[in-house]
Parts: sequence; C-alpha cells; structure tokens
Amino acid sequence: MRFLWPFGRKHDDDDQDFPLVAGYAGTPREASTAGRLRPDFPGFRASALDRPVERKRGERREITRARFAMMNMFTPTQPVTNRASFAGRLGMLSRLISAIETQRSHVVLYGERGIGKTSLLHVLTDVARESSYIVSYATCGASSDFSEMFRAVLEDVPVLFHRGVAPTTGEAESGGSLSDRLPSGRFGSRELADLCSEIVGTRVLIILDEYDRVDDPKFRQSVAELIKNLSDRAARVQIIIAGVAPNLQELMGYAPSIRRNVIGLPMPRLQESEIQEMIAIGEAAAGIRFDAKFGHLVSLLALGSPYLARLLCHHAGLEALDQGRLTVDVGHLRAALDLVIAETEGRMSPRTVTEMQKFLTGAYPQLIAAIGEASRSVDGWFTARDIAGLLPASAGGADKVQAELQSLTSTLGLESETEDGELRFRFSDDSLPIYLWLLIARDRLNAGKLDTAAPSAPSKAAAGLSEVKS
Ligand SMILES: Nc1ncnc2c1ncn2[C@@H]1O[C@H](COP(=O)(O)OP(=O)(O)OP(=O)(O)O)[C@@H](O)[C@H]1O
Ligand SMILES: [Mg+2]
Repeated sequence: MRFLWPFGRKHDDDDQDFPLVAGYAGTPREASTAGRLRPDFPGFRASALDRPVERKRGERREITRARFAMMNMFTPTQPVTNRASFAGRLGMLSRLISAIETQRSHVVLYGERGIGKTSLLHVLTDVARESSYIVSYATCGASSDFSEMFRAVLEDVPVLFHRGVAPTTGEAESGGSLSDRLPSGRFGSRELADLCSEIVGTRVLIILDEYDRVDDPKFRQSVAELIKNLSDRAARVQIIIAGVAPNLQELMGYAPSIRRNVIGLPMPRLQESEIQEMIAIGEAAAGIRFDAKFGHLVSLLALGSPYLARLLCHHAGLEALDQGRLTVDVGHLRAALDLVIAETEGRMSPRTVTEMQKFLTGAYPQLIAAIGEASRSVDGWFTARDIAGLLPASAGGADKVQAELQSLTSTLGLESETEDGELRFRFSDDSLPIYLWLLIARDRLNAGKLDTAAPSAPSKAAAGLSEVKS
C-alpha cells in the first residue's frame, strides 16, 4: 500500500510513476485521490486558504502568482469591496458624500445592471465608517419584510446611542442594540422613525441595496413613509437606496410625499480613463502587463460597463497566463470575447442563438447591429430615432426605421409601448441586447473596425446622467 499525502498534491517527482488510468477500479475515495494525481485532471489552481499552492508542472512561479492575483483582482461576479481595487468614480463618490453630509438627504442610486452600484456602496461604507458613521447594509429581496429587515438593521446600532441611556449605566454597557427597544411583534414606519429620532451622538446610514427586487408595494410604501418621517423629525438616520432602474421614479414607485427629501443619483457608465485605471490596478496587483491597445479596445467593447470590462480582462489575462505569458495582448482579448459570447449563449435558448446569428448575417445586418447598440440603454428601451442616429443617412431616417422595426417586432421578440407620444421598443428577453452587442463587437474587432464604429446612441434612457431631484 502506497502512502498518499493527505493535504493536497505532494511536490516531488516520485508520484510521476504512480499508475493512473481512466475508469479506476478502486473505491470512489481512492478513485478521487488517483484522479488528483493525474497531471491532466482538472482541479482548482489556487488554494481556498488565500495562498497559491498548486503550480502546474514546469510553470514559472510568477505565472502562478499572477494567476492567483488575477482571480482576486478581476473577479467579474463580485463587487469591489475595498478601496484599493476601486477604479474611478471619485466624482460620483463625492456627490454621494455631499448629498449625505452637506444636504443631509436620503439618496437613491440607480442605474443599469452591473454598473457598479454595490461596489460604490461598499466603498462609501468604508469611508463613512472612517468618519464614525454607523453603516448598516441590507440586501432586499422579493419577499423582504419591513419589520424583519429593520429589526436586523437596528441590531447594528448600539443602544448607548439612545438618548434615554446614560453612558455609565448597565444598559449602555450591556452591549445591547437599539433593536431591543423595538416592539416585539410587527411595527410600522412611524414607530421606527420615533425610535430613530432618539438616536444621539452618532449618525446612521441604512443602505438598502437591490431595491428593484422588492415586489411588495406595501414594503415600498413603508420605506417611503419612513423617509418622510425621518426627515420630518430631523433624525440622525439617512437611507441610501440602490437598484436597477432608468430613473428614480421607476425604482421608488409613485411617492410624491418624499420628493423634497430624496436626492436621485444616476450611475453613469465608466469613462475610458476609468477603465484604464481598472486595468492599471490589475496590472500592479498581478505583476502582468496589458498591451497598450488593450485598454482602449476593452473600453470600446465594454461600453462603459465595469462588469463587462472586468470579465474581458479576467478571461484575457488567464488566457495569457495559460500560455505562460505575462503580457496580455489583443489576441488574448479575442479569445476572451469568444469565451464571453459562449458563456452568454449558454444562458440562452439554442433557438434564439441561431435566430440572432441568422439576423446578423441576413437581410438587415446594419439595422440589427444598430438595434444591438441602441438596446444597450439602461432599461433596454430604444426608439426609431435612436436607431436612425446610428445608421447612415441613406438608411432613410426614423420613419422608415420605425416601419422596419414594427415589421420585425414578433420575429425579434420585441415589445413596444408609447412614451411621451413616441413609440419605443425593447427586447422581451433582457439578455439579448448584450449578446447582440458582443456579436457585433466581435465582427468589428476581427475586421479591425471597432475603433471607427459609431458610439452608442445617447437615447434618453442611456444618457440618464443628470442629477434628478424627485
Ligand atoms: N469602480 C469599480 N472599479 C473596479 N471594478 C468595478 C467598479 N465598479 C464595479 N466594478 C466591477 O463591476 C462588476 C459589477 O459591479 P457591482 O456588482 O458593484 O454592480 P451593480 O450595479 O451592483 O450590479 P447589479 O445591478 O447586478 O446589482 C463587479 O465585478 C465589480 O467588481
Ligand atoms: Mg448590486
């Protein structure tokens, strides 16, 4: 019986001659141990213990180190949680701070999916805590319950900040929280605001993220009333709401009572300089270098989305490292784009994938390309004017485009409605705009035309950059 190292792979060569065969005939445990010893058997590259342990046979140490750093730097599925990895957005952060500190306002942060709302809120939490704010972060869901959520929030506020608790009493030293002073059952916004107005000696920020997921109109109404009550009582508690929406009204619902108490801040797309900064942060952390053209192309491909930019950098970087290279070039970016497209296709029905590919090479390639670009607006809505703005004058203008769009509505799976007297369209399947855009971008990148393509139409929804005070 051969001794097997129990803590991961042993880094000596004496296991090279260990017989490894497909269809191993031992117990499942033995089979899995044997599988681990096969050099080509897939496995995790880095340890969950936050230190790189596994090095591919023959791989340079700096490649292994870079791969480990890349996994933490460009993780596309996780928000940024620390200042060191946070690129750009300083203007946005100052506006947020000033709304909270100078205007003592409640704030609603809205924008498209993956634009960086949660990341900004993490960094805000960090800087606010540095200034002794108490920050409580809550993620909303379809079935969020008002009492449950705010009871948990008040658990973050030590009871010693209650006006009625003297600092040297047993209660202050008990380590209790303000939630102990809430009624034991359900409570409403008025009772909550009453308790919050008793807070002294500190300021509290309550962050409600993913507010768009709230289905219950009663929950929204209670939050709107809470904002109104907190403002009327000049309580030292401010609410920061964030969610996916093209404007403040859509996120908050119709709530005229809080118009004067809330500042709406739209999250703009990232500028090229901010994407370059994101890349520079990754380069410094991983010890790799992105080719000079890389940042510019990623910025064109990502259309200001930090999510897409990170996803492309992540795949391109790992592709380079897999080839043993510490410089990431446009070839790696192409491979990354293929991977991102394949991942997106994996989330769609095969029929839709075939249809879309057919359209791009079919009778209306230019029109479909323009639809792909325009549909990348915050809420996916676009008008015939947006499309016409992306097409050459020879395409015939907005009226002709509108007729074409109407004839393609059912084939493309578009829905339409009239807003402010103008017909607007969007894809019923919200994964299609990004997919279409990626297909178009790949064609342009391969034809060397990404640089010269017209920028996205600044549709009303896509622009959404001015501050809105509801
Ligand atoms: N300023 C930034 N610097 C670097 N990376 C960023 C920045 N903002 C966002 N990202 C990255 O973009 C991706 C999306 O960010 P985040 O989750 O914060 O967006 P979101 O708007 O909250 O998304 P959702 O709409 O899905 O809730 C994440 O991978 C995050 O790490
Ligand atoms: Mg988020």
